Amino acid sequence: MTRHWTRPRADPAAPHAGRPAPPSETVSSAIPAARRGKESTMDREGRLTVTAGGSSAIDRTNGRPGIGRHGIVLRWSVWLLVAASWVSGAIFAAYILAFFGGVALKGSGHRWNEALPGLHDAGSLLTTVAIGAHFIAGGVLLVLGPIQLIGRVRRAAPALHRGLGRAYVVSAGVAGLGGLVFIAGKGTIGGPLMDVGFGLYGGLMVACAAMVYGHARRGDHERHRAWAIRLFALTIGSWLYRMEYGLWSVLFGSLGRGAGFSGWFDAVMVFFFYVPNLVIAETFIRVGRKEYGLAVDLATAALLLAAAIFVTVATSIFTTSIWGPRMVSAFN
Ligand code: HEM
Repeated sequence: MTRHWTRPRADPAAPHAGRPAPPSETVSSAIPAARRGKESTMDREGRLTVTAGGSSAIDRTNGRPGIGRHGIVLRWSVWLLVAASWVSGAIFAAYILAFFGGVALKGSGHRWNEALPGLHDAGSLLTTVAIGAHFIAGGVLLVLGPIQLIGRVRRAAPALHRGLGRAYVVSAGVAGLGGLVFIAGKGTIGGPLMDVGFGLYGGLMVACAAMVYGHARRGDHERHRAWAIRLFALTIGSWLYRMEYGLWSVLFGSLGRGAGFSGWFDAVMVFFFYVPNLVIAETFIRVGRKEYGLAVDLATAALLLAAAIFVTVATSIFTTSIWGPRMVSAFN
């Protein structure tokens, strides 16, 4: 039976998600329908009409004459960025769990302060426990986020998506609240401006997690999807923060950086690690809903590809210079 699209798809990995597609999908590309689990017929001009399935954005972008290829480029650029982010986030999470968790289990919690002074304070149990819980929750967030965004996993195993989703929003709440308790109790290393930037970051994360959960409970999939993308953009912020610093150091040394995070670059960075992500997420949510055409799709793909390359380069720098050596040192 020909599939009719009565409601927008909710696939954040799909660049054109949410856009109504034609009742049947006429494709002229060489992608075999059988590989995508669909039945198809070919007309006399050699066009293929797909009559079942339709679960991928590639199919639907191909359904619009003349724009199939850039739809595929856009989809692959999304996938590359998601894959690069997941690998990088997983390495960062492994570092957090191995180093902060490892030394704490060995009774050497004071070694947290090798990362930043004042994280572990034997005289302040509340802030130490709060920042410790925030480390564990942050590690969980980095690993689960990209899995939750994969449309195929959501469709194939909705119960798994719900289970991991609960763990994800709880972790976001704990990471945000743990960080906020630490700021309230001890303040950040960078002083009032950093307190404001990180405080806002924590508040936004807790609020986003609540929105994601609330809309899922109400069954409002469109809003749930949009808030989940915003939450994901926020959660990768803490990891981007380190990488942006690493890349800046490699490119410009200590330019704009001061003792105790007092330089102009430090001041910019207290907001820059999550505000641009939110802007990109918002663009992604909106471009995914409306049809902007070739130029915007290609520009979006170029932006996503550049981001994927940046993530890969920054991850290698960090893994070889900080995360790797510290992980190893936790076991010595
Ligand atoms: C995915 C989420 C997060 C991860 C993976 C994460 C990870 C970390 C790590 C590893 C540190 C130790 C310092 C370092 O090694 O650089 C740290 C410190 C800190 N984090 Fe997070 N974090 C996350 C989210 C948050 C949020 C949402 C807030 C906002 C309240 C926050 C506030 C802080 C603060 C205040 C510190 C201590 C900074 C200081 O001493 O000045 N983090 N975080």
